[in-house]
Amino acid sequence: MLVALLPGDGIGPEIITQARRVLDALAIEGLVYEEALVGGVAYKAVGHPLPPATLDLARRADAILFGAVGDPDCDALERHLRPEQAILGLRKELGLFANLRPAKMFAELADASTLRPEVASAIDLMIIRELNGDVYFGEKAMRTTADGQREGYDIMSYNEGEVRRIAHVAFRTAQARRGRLCSVDKANVLETSQLWRDVMIETAADYPDVVLSHMYVDNAAMQLVRNPGQFDVIVTGNLFGDILSDQASMCVGSIGLLASAALDGAGKGLYEPIHGSAPDIAGQGKANPLATVLSAAMMLRYSLGLPDQADRIEAAVARALAGGARGADLGGTMSTAQIGDAVVAAL
Ligand code: NAI
Ligand code: MG
Repeated sequence: MLVALLPGDGIGPEIITQARRVLDALAIEGLVYEEALVGGVAYKAVGHPLPPATLDLARRADAILFGAVGDPDCDALERHLRPEQAILGLRKELGLFANLRPAKMFAELADASTLRPEVASAIDLMIIRELNGDVYFGEKAMRTTADGQREGYDIMSYNEGEVRRIAHVAFRTAQARRGRLCSVDKANVLETSQLWRDVMIETAADYPDVVLSHMYVDNAAMQLVRNPGQFDVIVTGNLFGDILSDQASMCVGSIGLLASAALDGAGKGLYEPIHGSAPDIAGQGKANPLATVLSAAMMLRYSLGLPDQADRIEAAVARALAGGARGADLGGTMSTAQIGDAVVAAL
């Protein structure tokens, strides 16, 4: 099994180093790593943020563990050469259409949330956001109307194949969790949402062990802060998922804790922390590596068929946090490497 390591910019190399240490501590047989340049560091070395050799490695690999991209030195570059284009290019080139973002409150950190501890402590949910369709990819233009006003439009569309493939990912994810799937849409107003809801209901027939419910997106936004503990798996479109996943993820404390996966539905995935390259703290040993460590756990679960090893990492992170492994982002004093030490020790 080949894992592509793409550390990238800023804190990327520091956090990937710690994730690699944790993976090494599991001593998994047959796992090999190959590293490549991505982002600003790739632009500086070879003139492109996603060089052909990197894309080739990503295609060959069974899974990709990604740090972050983004470099203030590159701010003045044309858009297609900017580091951030690398992650968009990888998602598109590899057909990574299913974005999984778990948000779980570690009991020891309930005080770190902006929600009341008794509300926050119940959070253990997974948002599944469709990544390749919706209003982001429909026809869009800026035009001038007959009476001379500027007008912008973006067409929102989904076809049933696009909805069905994300539905299967969502139902299977719910099966592996607590068996509850909430589909979020705006079916009272939007045709795309009516199709979304119809296809979810049709797909449910294949998964009799999963309880499917539906919620309008405006209500979902409210429920996520009112009573987030009610959710197990949420599945939604690209636009609603963009907003709701950021909202849900911040309910659990630090951005340095949040992992994600982008899957192609055939086993391949790109795994990365949801945060960026954090240039303000890069090179100072202040980055929290746990989001990346937890992304590595997702990689073992979803791409490498090693759910037990994934569970071990997640349990070790919980034990490390219980033992006080907190960096500056959580009001503690531990360095990036010390947090890595704590997870390895807990393993
Ligand atoms: P950011 O997520 O890099 O940082 C936001 C704030 O959170 C900063 O104060 C940072 O120090 C802190 N932070 C982030 N990760 C942390 C960690 N692991 N431990 C402790 N603190 C952490 O977002 P920002 O500043 O908006 O963007 C910086 C660069 O990253 C930009 O170039 C942006 O385009 C890029 N970016 C890249 C992403 C990716 O590679 N997928 C995602 C988001 C942003
Ligand atoms: Mg977002």
